[in-house]
Parts: sequence; C-alpha cells; structure tokens
Amino acid sequence: MVPERHVLVVFGATGDLAHRKVLPSLFRLDRSGPAAGRAIVLGAARAGLSDEEFRASVRKSLIEHGENPEDAGEWVSRSVFFQSLGDTGPGAFATLRQRIESLEKQHNLYQHRIFYLALPLPAFPPTIEAFGASGLNRSKGWTRLVVEKPFGHDLTSAQSLNALVHRFFDEQDVYRLDHYLGKETVQNIIAFRFGNSLFEPLWNRDRIRQIEITVAEELGVEGRGSFYEKAGAVRDIMQNHMMQLLCLTAMEPPSVLDGNAVANEKVKVVQAMEPLRPEDVVLGQYAPGTLNGKSLKGYREEAGVSPESRTETFAAARLRINNWRWQGVPFFLRTGKRLPRKATKVVVTFKAPPAAVFNPYIVCGMEGNRLEITLQPNEGFNLSFQTKIPGQGMKLETQEMRFRYGDTYGALPEAYQTLMLDVMRGDRTLFVRNDEVELSWERFAGVVDGSLPVHEYPAGSWGPAAADRLLASDACCWTDL
Ligand SMILES: NC(=O)c1ccc[n+]([C@@H]2O[C@H](COP(=O)([O-])OP(=O)(O)OC[C@H]3O[C@@H](n4cnc5c(N)ncnc54)[C@H](OP(=O)(O)O)[C@@H]3O)[C@@H](O)[C@H]2O)c1
Repeated sequence: MVPERHVLVVFGATGDLAHRKVLPSLFRLDRSGPAAGRAIVLGAARAGLSDEEFRASVRKSLIEHGENPEDAGEWVSRSVFFQSLGDTGPGAFATLRQRIESLEKQHNLYQHRIFYLALPLPAFPPTIEAFGASGLNRSKGWTRLVVEKPFGHDLTSAQSLNALVHRFFDEQDVYRLDHYLGKETVQNIIAFRFGNSLFEPLWNRDRIRQIEITVAEELGVEGRGSFYEKAGAVRDIMQNHMMQLLCLTAMEPPSVLDGNAVANEKVKVVQAMEPLRPEDVVLGQYAPGTLNGKSLKGYREEAGVSPESRTETFAAARLRINNWRWQGVPFFLRTGKRLPRKATKVVVTFKAPPAAVFNPYIVCGMEGNRLEITLQPNEGFNLSFQTKIPGQGMKLETQEMRFRYGDTYGALPEAYQTLMLDVMRGDRTLFVRNDEVELSWERFAGVVDGSLPVHEYPAGSWGPAAADRLLASDACCWTDL
C-alpha cells in the first residue's frame, strides 16, 4: 500500500537517534518502494539552525552511513527542512504550526502529519502538552504520534504519560516504537510459529521443558554512562525488548494480523505472568575483568558513572506464565553488558525422550531437541536432533539442522525502515499498545524499585554465579551460546 503524502516532523532532530537511525531510514524509504517521494521531513529541535545548516548535517550523517553523496544531497535539498523550537514555549509551537501549514501548501499536501518524538524522556510531557495547546494534535487529515522507548521509567510514570498522551491523541494514532519489533527475525517468530504446522502442536507444556531468551552484549556502556546510570539493564532491555520477544514466543495465534488482534494476544501473556518476586531475579554489575585477552574497566570506573553506582548492567529472571499452554514451563530471561559475546537468542528446549532403549548407546548425553532462534548476529535457526553415528552398532549423538537468513536472502532491512513505513501506512501491528506497557511495568514493579541486591561479575564472564543458581531450582541450566 502506497502511503498518503505527508509531513513528518522529527522532534530532537539534532540528536543521536535521529541522525543514526531515523533520518537514514527516511532517506532509504525515499529512494525506492511505496514510500518514495511521499514524505516532507521537517526536523525540529531547540538548536538555532537554518534549513541549509540542518541539510548539511543530515547529508554528512548519510554519507557517514555509506550513502551516495549525490543521492543524499538531492534528497535533503528536495525533501528536508528545519524549524528551530528555541525555548520550546507556546510561541515556538505556534510558529511550528505555521511552518507545517506553509510546507503543506507549498507541496500540495492534505494535513497528513506524523510527529516523531526522538527526545529524552523528560522532554516528552512538555512536548505533548504543547501539541494540545497549539492545536497540532488535530488535523483535517490524520495526525500520528510516534513515541520512542523508554515509555516511562516505572508503572506510575508510564500511567501518567499514557494519560497525558490520551488527553490529546486517540490510542489508534499512537505508535509506541520498540525497534526489536521491526527486526525481520523478530517478526519471523510469528511466521515460524503460525505459518508452519509442524511446531505448533509441540509448542506447550507437554513437550517443552524450558525457554530461554538472552540478549548479551560484549560492549560496556561506551561513553553513555550518564544515560545508563538512569536506565540499567532491566529498563533498557528486559522490561521492553525482551518482554516483546517473550510475548511473541508465548502468545496464542491472533485471529488476524492487525495491531489490536496481536496486542490482545500479547496482553494475555503478560496478564498470565506472575509478578516477579525477589527470588526470581538476579541483578549484576560488571567489575574489572578481561575479554579476548584485553583488560576491561569495571562499570563504576566508566565515564559518567558514580563510583558508588548500584545500577545493574546485568539482569536474569525466571518467569512463570500461568495459562493452559505454559503452566509449569520456566521462562528464563538474561541480558547484560560485558558478557563474553554478542548474542540475541530464543532457545526452546523440548523434553528429552524416554531414553531407556538407547541408554547403553548414548555418546554425549540424551538431550531433548533444541530449537535456537538467533536474532543477531548471524540470524537464523538451528534445530538439534539425535542421529546414529555411522558404523557398527547403535551409537547416538546430537547434530543440528541450520538455516541462516544471510545465505538465502542477503542483507536484511533495517528495523527503523520497516517501522517508519508502517507508521506512514497506518499499520500498528508492530507497535506497542498502552495496556501492554503498563502491565509490563506492573510485573516488574518489585525489580525496578531499587530494593534488590546487585552482585558483581567480572567483565567478560556470563554474569554473577547467582544467575546460574536461579535455574538450578528447576533442574535446568543456561544453554551455551
Ligand atoms: N540513541 C539511540 O540509539 C536510542 C535507541 C533507542 C531509543 N532511544 C531513545 O530515543 C530518544 C532520543 O535519543 P537520543 O540518543 O537521540 O537522545 P539525545 O541525543 O540526548 O536527544 C535528542 C535531541 O533532543 C533534544 N533535547 C534534549 N533535551 C531536550 C529537552 N529538554 N527539550 C527538548 N529537546 C531536547 C536535543 O536537541 P536540541 O538541544 O537541539 O533541542 C537533542 O539533540 C531518547 O528517549 C532515547 O532513550 C535512543
């Protein structure tokens, strides 16, 4: 579907996210495909830049991202503009409104507007209030609001942000963006589960022993210490991105693939999830250590981090989903910085078969079949199964079937590109609904209140030993990644 022609205002257009992700995605969408030539992009920020100064900075960023300088120059001069918001007061938004109307007139557009908030969290409420005060929240066509994570920092703040948004916008016009949902491999969890009849009959407590979801990073805070101090692993990754992976893995098939039907099924998963208890969660913080022979600083020595910081750089949790499908199956989530390797995976371990027949013949332990869905890097699937080792007698060992996206499809599209096209088309399937966000914060309430101990782990290790003990009570262990 070709999107209606529109003005897309990027708030925080001078920032890191705008230059690294949003504007490059808009450029690529303009090059080819259904959105080509459909968007007039208006950058907005407090900085006092002219159109030309902003265009030069966007062109520079695009070239740094490997884009052709001529194509980048052609796009910015044809489709990119800038409006300074100065002190962001009421006058600034009145001027912004006039500028949008003038661009609409100049380009013959019918009040179809997208407002993308690439702003720090404290700037959300005043900006949303300003939409209301200036009347920019309503138009003769449509007005869509795109909100970046984090959506609040706990349940109370998420509720008040939702209430504020709903004072001025209808929920159906709000696009809460979690870029994980734009990743091809994450969407493919839906295709894999509901487009194949092979696995669905096995996808339940009768056949599955445990499910692990890991988001591991080799990197530390990389100069973003002061930002990370206010976030931590639970707020940055677990409560949002990992909960989305969990929901897609655990949800029932939606009746249709649209925003509300998918959100309804995801909400049911979180409703069935027990609130996390202190004994279900292990938090950690990296201490000095070594990785690949290189000595690494501890978190507290990083720039912008307090020497007494209690911010967690690692979190592991055991979750229970008390519904018909999942009762009794433990879900284990873990994420951390300065772990031995970068890996985002969902690992589904099936129950082991009754091994009696093969007991004398097993070479390395009779394992249950294991399905590994690798979301990055090297995106793909591995399915392990038992084979007979060729030769005399009956000896078994575990082998794998492998599929890699790159081998079949080459490079995958950028998540932001997918999501921006969906906003332009008005498709909310890959966005997060208000009740999902609030329920998720509710389940994590006992984890983000600062009451849990934070264990040290050496940089370059798989986190604190307590994270292994978390699994021991279910007689499980983390899969080697
Ligand atoms: N960077 C990422 O990779 C990433 C990934 C996922 C989510 N996010 C989220 O996306 C949002 C933007 O991230 P970012 O890294 O681009 O942030 P940023 O660079 O700190 O801020 C973006 C822009 O917002 C403007 N700004 C800052 N404080 C403001 C205020 N109080 N009122 C109005 N404008 C203000 C600044 O421009 P002016 O000073 O010119 O106004 C700044 O260039 C954040 O909420 C972040 O958590 C970022």
